[in-house]
Amino acid sequence: MSTSLLITGASQLLTVRGTGPRRGASLSELEIVEGGALLVRDGRIVAVGTRTVVEALVEAKRAEKLDVGGRVVLPGLVDAHTHLIHAASRAEEYELKIRGASYEEIARKGGGILNSVEKLRAATADELKARAHKALKEFAAHGTTTLEAKSGYGLDAASELKTLLLYQELEREQPIEIVRTFLGAHVLPAEYRRAGQAERYVDLLTDKMIPEVARAGLASYCDVFCDRGAFTLSQTKRVLRAGLACRLTPRVHAEQLSRTGATVAAVRMGAASCDHLEYASSLDIRVLAKSNTVAGLLPGCDFHLGLRRYAPARALIDAGAIVSLATDFNPGTSPTMSMPMILSLACAQLRMTPAEALAAATINAAYSLGRAEEIGSLEVGKQADLAAFEVEDYREIPYYFGVNTCWMTMKRGTVIHSRSEQIASLKVRAISAEENR
Ligand code: NIG
Ligand code: FE
Repeated sequence: MSTSLLITGASQLLTVRGTGPRRGASLSELEIVEGGALLVRDGRIVAVGTRTVVEALVEAKRAEKLDVGGRVVLPGLVDAHTHLIHAASRAEEYELKIRGASYEEIARKGGGILNSVEKLRAATADELKARAHKALKEFAAHGTTTLEAKSGYGLDAASELKTLLLYQELEREQPIEIVRTFLGAHVLPAEYRRAGQAERYVDLLTDKMIPEVARAGLASYCDVFCDRGAFTLSQTKRVLRAGLACRLTPRVHAEQLSRTGATVAAVRMGAASCDHLEYASSLDIRVLAKSNTVAGLLPGCDFHLGLRRYAPARALIDAGAIVSLATDFNPGTSPTMSMPMILSLACAQLRMTPAEALAAATINAAYSLGRAEEIGSLEVGKQADLAAFEVEDYREIPYYFGVNTCWMTMKRGTVIHSRSEQIASLKVRAISAEENR
């Protein structure tokens, strides 16, 4: 059986060439090949360029053929911030919010993250996994090929470890790559809410949970939600330092509901990313711009919560920060698996151009996960992770909102989602919706 695949017929092939992160003006350079073609072998890209050049290769002649019929082909979307495993939606809180209750009020009354913690602790591993599998199929159906996933709804050693172990299993059972982050420092669990107990929980994180997670190789990153109602700046630093001592790179939920100074502290500690940033100050913007820490923007949260204050994306880009985009898929602030919807919000609300948004959701997001050598662009040697959208011009991807124009998603050369009969019969297809479960 042929293991090579020739992909032709792209009206635009967005290569987003490069392994380095994009800053400033370079964020909008998508390196488009009009009428581009790709040759894939054993899950990797072996040639990319114009149709005439790629088709002329000897291997291309023998390869299986896939004509994408004038659609737009781009690197698989990389979602660098999700809370994939959770037990249930919080639709009841959604209604309370619409009626005027704020996210923080609901959390103070024991709802919010603690509501999800109660449900996760009560759920079986099978229930959690079945829900996550369903969500992963939705991610694939919207063009996502790699995502980061956090723990953080367990908040005790057993439930946090259980979540991370489930991510490991999920990765073996389906095609989307999952990069794991330990978020034991999401909020204080109910059992540590009495006065004077907060530092005891931080001790538990630093002395027990973080070393255990690291010893078992269950996470690459350590995250903290630093904000009112969550962890203070000094607690955040303690947790991130303990993570670093165990080789877990920091990522943070920073300046989401108020400015805490988490960004400056995390950048100093070499954080991979500072995410949210709605309340980032001009100092935060300058510090990020001078660093290799990615500014991870999550406009789905502001949209879902009906907030008017979005992150200062333009100022960040213009200052030279590395900006990425993610869904922040979670039951409290951003219940979406759709990166295309995030692209629409990035354009309409963050005032990013379609080109900037796409680079932020591919190469820069890959960089934020330390994976830019392998994914995030369509180049020789990289994984054949790509998506084809039912549009002729890439700007139509964010332009159409609330509809899914993703036509096909491919992971390491294997189709993991498609809307086409032609693709369903490809030999390289290998993974059907059912096998994918
Ligand atoms: O990224 N801000 C903290 N964590 C999530 C929300 C989690 C939840 O409400 O369940 C976020 O917005
Ligand atoms: Fe989050």
